Amino acid sequence: QITYLAGKEPDPREHRLIFKNVDREGWDPSIATYINDGGYKMLEKALKMEPSEITNEVKTSGLRGRGGAGFPTGLKWTFIPPNNTKPVYLICNCDESEPGTFKDRYIVHQDPHQLLEGMVISSFAVGAHTAYIYMREEFPEAAKIMEAAIEEAREKGFIGKDILGSGFDLEIYVHRGAGAYICGEETGLIESLEGKRPYPRIKPPYFPAALGLYMCPTIVNNVESLCHVKHIIEMGGDEYAKLGVPRNTGTRIVGVSGDVKKPGYFEIQVGKVTMRELLYDMCGGPKDGREFKAVIPGGSSSKILRCDESFKIKGKDGDEDLSFWDIPLDFDTLAACGSMAGSGGVIVLDDSRKMSWVLNNLNHFYGHESCGQCTPCREGSTWMRKLSDRIVSGEAAPEDVATLESVAYQIDGKTICAFGEASSWPVEAIIAKFRDELLAETKEENAAISTPEALAQR
Ligand code: NAI
Ligand code: SF4
Repeated sequence: QITYLAGKEPDPREHRLIFKNVDREGWDPSIATYINDGGYKMLEKALKMEPSEITNEVKTSGLRGRGGAGFPTGLKWTFIPPNNTKPVYLICNCDESEPGTFKDRYIVHQDPHQLLEGMVISSFAVGAHTAYIYMREEFPEAAKIMEAAIEEAREKGFIGKDILGSGFDLEIYVHRGAGAYICGEETGLIESLEGKRPYPRIKPPYFPAALGLYMCPTIVNNVESLCHVKHIIEMGGDEYAKLGVPRNTGTRIVGVSGDVKKPGYFEIQVGKVTMRELLYDMCGGPKDGREFKAVIPGGSSSKILRCDESFKIKGKDGDEDLSFWDIPLDFDTLAACGSMAGSGGVIVLDDSRKMSWVLNNLNHFYGHESCGQCTPCREGSTWMRKLSDRIVSGEAAPEDVATLESVAYQIDGKTICAFGEASSWPVEAIIAKFRDELLAETKEENAAISTPEALAQR
C-alpha cells in the first residue's frame, strides 16, 4: 500500500506509473530505497531479451514521445541504419525549458533511478554504449542528484562493464547546458554536446537517428519517455497499450499552471481526461469571482484555445462538434482542434488576463531565446516583440495588429528549426482568436508615432 505526503495525495482520476514515487511517504532518491521497491528488476529482465524484442515491445506499446512532438518512440529507434558500423549514442533530453512545463525535474529530483533504469534498457535496445543526460543549466540540484545516482548504479553493477553479467557495457554522463532554450532542440543539443554553439541543424534529410552526435546514429528521447520504457518491459507492450486510447496510449504527466485554484501535476491516462475534468474536477475550477478565458494546452509553443470555442473534428459518422470543455487530452484530438498536446504544460488564463499582455510575455521569451542563425526567426521574433510592446503600452495603431500577424506568417515554415513555428504560432492564434480585444487597445491617432522608425528605436 503506497501512501503519499499529506496534501500531496494523487487525484483519484490519476493513473500513476512514472510519478508513483513522487511525494511518496518514506521515499528518497537513494538506490537502496529504489531496489527495496523492486527497482532494477526490469533491467535484469530486459538484459535477457534480444534488443530487437525490446524495440518491438516499445513499438507495440504505442508510446509517443513525451517531450512535445509525440513521435512514436519505438519507430524512432528503428531509424538507426541497419548496416551501421559507427558507435550509437543515446541522449536523454533533460533540458526541460518549455514555459509551462515542469515534470522532468520532479522525476530527476525524486526518482532518478527510474530514469537510469529506463536509460540502460533503452541503450541496450538501440546498441548504445555511451549515453548522456543533457541537463538544463538551471537545474543544478538535479545534476548533482543524477551524478550521485549514476555513481550508486555503477557501484551496484547496473552501469559500467558487463552489466549484471550480460556482456553489455554502458557509461552514462551528465552534461550541463549553459542556459539556452534552443539547447532543448535535439540538433542544437547535439551541437552543444559537441562543444559548439547550439545552432540547430537542418532536418530533413538527416535526422539524428542516422546522423547525430559526431555524425553517428543518436537517439534523443525525453526524460519521461525513457522512464516509460521500464514500465513497458514490466507490463508488456500489449498491456501498456490498453492504457489511454488508441494511437494515444499509456499515461502522461500534465502540469497545470496559472489561474486555477489548485495548480500542479497530474499523471493521467492519455485521452481519458477531458479539459472540464482537468480544470474543474482536478484543479478546483477558476479562482473565486473569476471565469476561465483561454488555455495554452501543451507548453507555450502550442496554439491557444478559447474556453468558449468549439471545433469540428472527424468522428465515426463524419464531422462532429466538440466543445473546448469536452476535449480529451490526447495528441490527436488536440491536433484536430488546431493546437497540440506538446510537452503537457497546460497554462490557464482567466478573465483578469489581457491578451496583449500574454502575447507580449511570449514574444519577449521567444525574442530573447532565438539562436539568431536564420533571418526570419532572428529578425522576426525581435520585430514581433517590438510590435507587441507597442500594443501593450497603448502606443499602437490598428495596423500594427495586422503587421504583427503578417510578421508571424513570414516566420512560420521558413526557418531551420521548429523554434520558428514555436514563436509564430502563439502570435497567429492569439490574433486570430482575440483580434477585437487587441484592436481595442490600439488608437487611430497613434499612426503618427507608430512608424517603422519608432519601432526600430524600441
Ligand atoms: P520533430 O517532429 O521534428 O521530431 C520529433 C522527433 O522525431 C525527433 O527526435 C526527430 O529526430 C524524430 N523524427 C521525426 N521524423 C523523423 C524521420 N523521418 N526520421 C527519423 N527521425 C525522425 O519535432 P522536434 O523539433 O524534435 O520537437 C518539437 C517539439 O518540442 C514541439 O512540438 C514542442 O512541443 C517541444 N518542445 C519541448 C520543450 C520541453 O521543454 N519539453 C521545449 C521546446 C519544445
Ligand atoms: Fe535559430 Fe530560430 Fe533559426 Fe531555430 S528558427 S535555427 S532558433 S534562428
